[in-house]
Amino acid sequence: MTAVRPASPAVPPRAVVILAAGEGTRMKSSTPKVLHEIAGRSLLGHVLAAVEPLAAAHVVVVVGHGREQVVDHVAAVAPAAVCVVQEEQLGTGHAVRIALESVPTDDAATGPVVVLAGDTPLVTTAALLGLLTTHGESHAAATILSARLDDPAGYGRIVRDDDGVVTGIVEQKDASDAELAIREINSGMYAFDESALRRLLSELTTDNAQGEEYLTDIVTHMRAEGLGVSAVPSASADEILGVNDRVQLAQARALIRDRVARHWMTEGVTIIDPLTTWIDVDVELERDVVLAPSTALIGHTRVNEGAHIGPDTTLIDTHVDSGAEVIRTHAQGARIGANASVGPFTYLRPGTVLGPNSKAGAYVEMKNSTIGAGSKVPHLSYVGDTTVGEGSNIGAATVTVNYDGVNKYETIIGDQVRVGSDTMLVAPVVIGDGAYTAAGSVITEDVPPGAMAVGRARQRNVEGWVARKRPNTKAAEAASAALGQEREHSSPDE
Ligand code: UD1
Ligand code: CA
Repeated sequence: MTAVRPASPAVPPRAVVILAAGEGTRMKSSTPKVLHEIAGRSLLGHVLAAVEPLAAAHVVVVVGHGREQVVDHVAAVAPAAVCVVQEEQLGTGHAVRIALESVPTDDAATGPVVVLAGDTPLVTTAALLGLLTTHGESHAAATILSARLDDPAGYGRIVRDDDGVVTGIVEQKDASDAELAIREINSGMYAFDESALRRLLSELTTDNAQGEEYLTDIVTHMRAEGLGVSAVPSASADEILGVNDRVQLAQARALIRDRVARHWMTEGVTIIDPLTTWIDVDVELERDVVLAPSTALIGHTRVNEGAHIGPDTTLIDTHVDSGAEVIRTHAQGARIGANASVGPFTYLRPGTVLGPNSKAGAYVEMKNSTIGAGSKVPHLSYVGDTTVGEGSNIGAATVTVNYDGVNKYETIIGDQVRVGSDTMLVAPVVIGDGAYTAAGSVITEDVPPGAMAVGRARQRNVEGWVARKRPNTKAAEAASAALGQEREHSSPDE
């Protein structure tokens, strides 16, 4: 997604630490929580993508549960990031402490340390830039991104004194009744002064309801030393939504869907029903594209100017050129040419290339095939391992018989060919330019250019068969009436 990039921070962070070692028990999943996907990107991937424009000197991901998978994933999506293993989840303070052990203290980079969680996929670069700006301006030792929630349950609460100065963060499980009534919560996203953070991390204890080293206790320590701490409420409560279970996963998914849809609408794409239109973050769309309801654009799909997609269409890693129309279609790894027409009820498999102005119509399946400009496969056909030239028409219910049970073979159809309806093209076979095949043919031999190939049994009519073999049926009655009339009409007496 080519979102408008906000300016980079005045001072890039020295380090961004992303906490992702937790098990995510409530997901009840064999996939580590941070690897669950929304819009073609993992939860952790969304966080890494928001962090990337900050140009931090070091990005450290703390991994624990499912570490092999998470480490491989980070290597794939953010190769510059470093993973640090936290063997036991002893708390957020412990996690940040071991993360900082991997960040050298003797390099030239300055700037604050940003701490985030790997399960907050809605965090934006803009929100992090806001956090960094406030942090830089306030000269605080810690700046907390907070949010005011109608229902603060589960979160740590931001405690302020009578002057509104932040004095601490108290976890839900450690909070008094008065503290539980506080609606300003800790998002779990912070900017810290590095030396204060390093020094005070070593002073954390596990003297709390969960027996963990709370990162949040740092705030109290900083205040005790007379250091400044500020909390800035996030502009939107959505931005800080953490995913702990599948209900929150669905909430986050809907919010990201809306965000992506809004982006493309501002770029000139018509989305008829944004609620049922799912666009992955890596999809590219041009102006005047129209997306009809229940359309999913997945992976590296690209749709060029003025193309109409949907309704009820899924395109995976598919490229649609300008002006094409794709209705009720499932396509993967396909290229659909300019002004081509696809659907309804069409299945395009990997390696399908439709030329400009071509057609793949109703109940057509194609794979690994190239259809030339203006050629049409309008109805009920299977086309596999096939090359079709330009201006050819493949009659209804034609099948390229590409598989002998062991090997696959190629069919080559030239320019301006007319394949008759219900033709079986038994591959390997070549149909020359301008050739025809008779409807119902089984074509097993090459057809030279301009020839008519007939590959079927000649028709034989057994007259009177119904009267003899099916007497006293409605068919016999109808036949007899028809034959009687015919006789009357041809009677020489009249
Ligand atoms: C934490 C904050 C809380 C805040 C909330 C926001 C603390 C003590 N509390 O609470 O104030 O409102 O986040 O969501 O920090 N993690 C590790 N290693 C650990 C422990 C946690 O990597 O040893 C990771 C988790 O995987 C998760 C993140 O840190 O991604 C937050 O941990 P979690 O246990 O969910 O903290 P909360 O209790 O939600
Ligand atoms: Ca949490």
